[in-house]
Amino acid sequence: MSHIARKVRQALGTVAVAAGLFLAAGCGPVATSLLFDGVPPPPPPEAYCSGWLADKERAARGDVAPVTAPVVKGSVHAPYKEKRCTDCHDTGKQRGLILPPNKLCFSCHDDVVNGSTFVHAPAATGDCLACHRPHDSSFSALLKAEKAEICLTCHGEKRLAGGLHGKVAAAGVVCSDCHDPHAGDNRYFLK
Ligand code: HEC
Ligand code: HEC
Ligand code: HEC
Ligand code: HEC
Ligand code: HEC
Repeated sequence: MSHIARKVRQALGTVAVAAGLFLAAGCGPVATSLLFDGVPPPPPPEAYCSGWLADKERAARGDVAPVTAPVVKGSVHAPYKEKRCTDCHDTGKQRGLILPPNKLCFSCHDDVVNGSTFVHAPAATGDCLACHRPHDSSFSALLKAEKAEICLTCHGEKRLAGGLHGKVAAAGVVCSDCHDPHAGDNRYFLK
């Protein structure tokens, strides 16, 4: 659970920092005008503070990673890139593959689900191609869809945790930030 708390904090962190700084420093001139009469009305707070606030936010987070990590575009499978086609293909065999599709990926990636208490149904059945493409993809990790979208290609059901899920999704946290897509020792493969 502490890991999830961390993810949520990461996502909401900037909002909290922004609000905190705003309250603490109060964008000086605006606050002052409330205390002393006869001071000409200041520009609207947003005009005054936006640049300043952005600078403070950047400083507060050491100008490191933004809340949402930049989207990695595109990926190529190492054996495909290296033209090791025969690692997977054998024209003499069924479907032109050395092993049936639900066994093929495990021949190199046996660590994806092995030794885990809970295994996600499609990974357990070797249906890796439900989420991945075998050669390359215009998305990260050979995924068939954007990482933020892939889970919803199957999970459209109304969930108990739906409210929580909607909130964190709005903050740019994706399913696989909290759930391992394949397996894990925690229920629901929570990280
Ligand atoms: C990691 C295993 C793997 C490697 C390496 C690989 N393939 Fe494939 N390839 C597959 C799988 C699995 C399919 C079947 C995809 C499906 O049925 O959805 C496939 C399908 C194909 C197809 C059928 C059409 C298509 O694109 O779906 C062709 C042609 C093909 N591969 C050519 C190649 C060539 C050429 C190479 C080497 C440059 C290569 N493959 C390397 C796993 C691999
Ligand atoms: C011949 C060995 C081999 C087979 C078979 C194989 N892979 Fe891979 N795969 C690799 C290697 C090597 C890498 C790169 C190193 C690593 O990440 O482990 C890789 C990486 C990956 C990655 C990470 C790619 C990235 O950009 O992050 C995914 C996803 C993946 N494989 C899925 C599959 C799927 C799905 C199958 C079955 C269709 C499969 N692999 C079959 C060798 C293989
Ligand atoms: C339900 C969708 C789904 C299925 C099914 C699935 N994967 Fe993945 N896989 C993902 C996602 C999402 C990622 C990216 C995780 C991330 O970047 O946080 C990923 C990442 C990977 C990686 C990169 C290293 C890692 O663990 O992050 C490998 C290797 C991989 N998958 C192999 C497989 C193999 C082999 C299978 C079949 C046994 C499989 N996957 C089935 C969704 C899936
Ligand atoms: C190819 C379809 C498919 C995709 C894509 C998919 N799932 Fe699933 N998922 C299933 C199936 C089937 C089950 C088993 C349903 C059940 O047990 O009620 C399941 C079960 C789960 C469970 C366990 C539910 C329980 O009650 O134990 C979690 C958590 C989960 N998926 C998360 C994810 C996440 C996160 C992703 C994206 C990385 C994802 N799923 C993508 C098909 C999918
Ligand atoms: C901030 C972390 C977090 C994110 C992001 C997240 N989940 Fe969850 N998810 C949880 C927690 C915690 C539970 C366990 C709730 C419980 O015990 O009822 C859960 C439970 C689930 C379950 C099983 C229980 C149920 O309600 O059916 C599924 C399926 C599921 N999540 C899918 C998803 C999908 C799909 C996404 C992306 C749209 C997602 N989760 C994003 C934390 C997260």
